[in-house]
Amino acid sequence: MDEQDRIITSHLLEADADVELSLRPRFLAEYIGQDQVKENLKIFIEAAKLRNEALDHVLLYGPPGLGKTTLSTIIANELGVNVRTTSGPAIERAGDLAAILTNLQQGDVLFIDEIHRLNRTVEEVLYPAMEDYCLDIIIGKGPSARSVRLDLPKFTLVGATTRAGKLSAPLRDRFGVVSRLEYYKVDELAYIITRAADILDVHIVEAAAKEIALRSRGTPRIANRLLKRVRDFAQVHGDGMITEGLAKEALERLHVDQLGLDQIDHKLLLSIVEHFQGGPVGVDTIAAMIGEESDTVEDVYEPYLMQIGFLQRTPRGRMVTPSVYKHFSLDPPENS
Ligand SMILES: Nc1ncnc2c1ncn2[C@@H]1O[C@H](COP(=O)(O)OP(=O)(O)OP(=O)(O)O)[C@@H](O)[C@H]1O
Ligand SMILES: [Mg+2]
Repeated sequence: MDEQDRIITSHLLEADADVELSLRPRFLAEYIGQDQVKENLKIFIEAAKLRNEALDHVLLYGPPGLGKTTLSTIIANELGVNVRTTSGPAIERAGDLAAILTNLQQGDVLFIDEIHRLNRTVEEVLYPAMEDYCLDIIIGKGPSARSVRLDLPKFTLVGATTRAGKLSAPLRDRFGVVSRLEYYKVDELAYIITRAADILDVHIVEAAAKEIALRSRGTPRIANRLLKRVRDFAQVHGDGMITEGLAKEALERLHVDQLGLDQIDHKLLLSIVEHFQGGPVGVDTIAAMIGEESDTVEDVYEPYLMQIGFLQRTPRGRMVTPSVYKHFSLDPPENS
């Protein structure tokens, strides 16, 4: 099984794409949770509108599926401007970015997803664009080459990344607003699930929404996906109504445990317990044990396991915590 096959992957799957659009909140008032980020944005957006200026550039970072793309569209909607969406890897040459920038209108939002993957030459075009709303282009070649400055409309760059640490310092410094998205609380996810069920026109009882929320790894994208699978189950095995018992049974069958862990998480944790007495063990070894890339282990598997206090990063490697032994009803090693 690889990452794309996991029902609890936080990455966007093809099957999600259609529904995700309809479930996506369009304004701040519909965007649940992330209160601090929302409060800040509300004030900055209001101020920008009052002054009739473009909003300061915004950097959103945090694990996949927490609502960065959603928020970028909301920012544009709240400002009442257009949003142009692209991504770091899609902008290959400086000229590509120049073309995008010169086509923006005053106040527009330019959303660059995976902004940590912009290449250097493109990034250098972005610096003066962000700072002074201008573009320096070289005309001609050799000794007769000269640089011309082109004015750009005042725009707002919204950058999103799952890896803020990978952003170069000069780029990071040019964002006026830097917001970190956090994993969602269970009651927030339960609310998101209830709202989604409403849009999808299925009945769900509160306890069932909570049950799904508990297993969604703090991530709305996973919550929505589990809801859809449970709904299928309700239609085939029930009368379409999602009750608590039905939700539990469906989730059981999907092999998602009470904490949202699946078989790969189990394998990862149990390998450390069984082969390394709980650690420490290097990330490369973990990656080899579960047949994944080290980067994937670091970006996808570990953040949630650390968030729930199952895994610790130490200078000597990864270690499981006593909670892991409890979760699997195992005896902890003597010396811990
Ligand atoms: N605060 C929220 N309230 C309700 N639904 C949300 C919220 N945040 C995200 N969602 C739902 O989760 C889905 C995934 O969000 P989104 O695509 O914005 O995540 P992302 O952070 O951009 O992920 P990635 O890093 O993979 O690009 C959205 O389609 C939306 O339905
Ligand atoms: Mg996104």
